[in-house]
Amino acid sequence: KMTLKEKIGQLYQSAYFSDVVTGHERDTSQTLEGIRNGQVGSILSVHKEEVLYQLQKTAVEESRLGIPLLFCFDVIHGYKTAFPINLALSSTWDPDLIERVSKAVAYETSHAGLHLTFSPMVDIVRDPRWGRVMESNGEDPYLSSVLAKAYVRGYEQKDLSHPHAVAACVKHFAGYGFVEAGKEYNTVDISERVFRNIVLPPFQAAIDENVSMVMTAFNVLFDRPATASTFLLKDILRQEMAYQGITISDYTSTEEVINHKVAKDERDAAKQCFNAGLDHEMVSTTYKDHLEALVKTNEVSIKDIDRAAGRILALKKALGLFKNPYRNFYENSEQYMLQDDTKALALEASEKSMVLLKNDAVLPIMSTKKVGLVGPFIKNQDVIGEWNALAEKSDVISIKEAFDQGDYNTVYVDDDNLDRLSECDVVIMALGEAGNEAGEGNSKVDLHLPNHQQALFDRVRKVNANVVLIVFAGRPLIMTHYDDHASAILYSYQPGTMAGRAIYNLISGTSSPRGKLTMTFPRHQGQIPIYYNHYSTGRPLNPDKPNYRYNSRYRDCSDAPLYPFGFGLTYGEFTYADLILDKETLKDEDAVSVSVKVKNTGPMKATETVQCYIEALTYSVSRPVNELKAFKQITLEPAEEASVTFRLTLQDFRSYNVDMVYTAENQSYKVKVGSASNTTNSVILNVIDAIH
Ligand code: NOJ
Repeated sequence: KMTLKEKIGQLYQSAYFSDVVTGHERDTSQTLEGIRNGQVGSILSVHKEEVLYQLQKTAVEESRLGIPLLFCFDVIHGYKTAFPINLALSSTWDPDLIERVSKAVAYETSHAGLHLTFSPMVDIVRDPRWGRVMESNGEDPYLSSVLAKAYVRGYEQKDLSHPHAVAACVKHFAGYGFVEAGKEYNTVDISERVFRNIVLPPFQAAIDENVSMVMTAFNVLFDRPATASTFLLKDILRQEMAYQGITISDYTSTEEVINHKVAKDERDAAKQCFNAGLDHEMVSTTYKDHLEALVKTNEVSIKDIDRAAGRILALKKALGLFKNPYRNFYENSEQYMLQDDTKALALEASEKSMVLLKNDAVLPIMSTKKVGLVGPFIKNQDVIGEWNALAEKSDVISIKEAFDQGDYNTVYVDDDNLDRLSECDVVIMALGEAGNEAGEGNSKVDLHLPNHQQALFDRVRKVNANVVLIVFAGRPLIMTHYDDHASAILYSYQPGTMAGRAIYNLISGTSSPRGKLTMTFPRHQGQIPIYYNHYSTGRPLNPDKPNYRYNSRYRDCSDAPLYPFGFGLTYGEFTYADLILDKETLKDEDAVSVSVKVKNTGPMKATETVQCYIEALTYSVSRPVNELKAFKQITLEPAEEASVTFRLTLQDFRSYNVDMVYTAENQSYKVKVGSASNTTNSVILNVIDAIH
């Protein structure tokens, strides 16, 4: 029944009434008229329920066919209850927790009138200068794949018609995390193998979990803007990855192909993006303004328009919007926000996401101790981070508030009057980046804490050298100076609503830190990009001769990161022994069992994330010196020992070889198990792959 204009209308996303702007603002005054005329398919970033209601009513009652609108919003790490930023969530290495978190996020989101969230963001990141590392799962494709699935399951609950489910959109397809020099919206230039082995797996994982939407990236990849890339959107996404859902541009990324200098005008941009396989246009209006004419001149086929519009309608149907366009409107929806169980989950997530980077036997702190509190982030509630949706700083529990309610004898000092710290047993100092220093449009070249914060730290430690440092940040910062001088460092990222309570619980030992880094921490920013799964060089560093000039190294800085991927301390102490395989050779459909004994030799119960990596000893092309393939979490009492077993199959050893065949080849591999990516605990396995 739909006219061509109405079909094209389904392909347009308007930002009408939105007060969240992530690009150049548009004149949206015609939108209401457009809705009446059936020329709007979905709405971006409107959160006011009375406005959403009005828009839906206009679509349903005043447009010719009454097709409901789809309401989309960036709910990235919480709607009203702020969960930790995603980089922090990834540091939990806990897919079950992330599924529960995204389910709770969907609960609030679905009660606010919204239908779809632009999450999960699964861009693999290697450069902390890029502000958007805060939204990512870090640098590893396997971990990010496991977590991508968990996000999609939690949001979509396997049934979009479920009253508390929201549709998910995986982004940004593809390669955005590799912007050169960490500079926002910059060019990306990576090899096809890095693209296939590192960038694609988390997208495939989300697709396997039936994600509803895929958003294209702003950047160029393989010399074409991703938004206009037939190779990406058709050959890879539709054909190889068997994706059936909607593709959406990023905010005006369609018309930006003109700036990329591959299209001469908006008409050309619309033609190129649509014919490349892009269904839905966000904010800019090249489709709305030009597709009709392009169909008439046969430059765009009506079949393709039908297919794209059909996908949008299919999502609306799956969400049950044709049955009940008002499904997500509730009386007094405030009551569904910040519920006690949601806050309890946010607390659990915050505790599990923080990473203990250093601990000179100072943590946990006994309740009999006198504790000094100092630093700009002790009282500061600006620890939600970017993409905070409707979360409010005023709902955040600060460190000071948590300690005021706690058991310690505490002394709070301001920056100009540090003397009283000398009478304390230990000082808790909180430093950090402001909440809006990371996120989109926030690339930085200097990853140190501000000079005045470092100066304050140096003054504090001269008054009392026993400093426990809490750091709030949206990215890995350069912690070298603090690692040299603090007694303990708890890297808290941006933990959200329950920040102070989580920190109090960890410091007091009510719960035990367990987070593990998902991005490598450089010791110097000149080392960037630095990541664990790099290739070997022809002249690798020789640890016995670290200063030998003609090896791959820096003359003015150690080669090693400050903290490697996978690293994080607990209040236990884990030793690894008896790493064994159940066979020497893996072939065909077999699996190899990798077992290790893990013992907690420390004084406290703790949870360890046991990590399993492989390294190809030879292969027809260069491969990473380390590839994460499995992990498991175990909780052990002091002196308790457990055996941990992983099962690896041929699939885990495969990669794209010199002929672009996905194979393990017939090669020998090291299998490594340990508590971080720099483990040296390894055994050798021979692998025979019939496909090669
Ligand atoms: C731009 C961002 O790149 C994207 O992640 C986000 O979903 C859209 N803006 C919509 O706000």
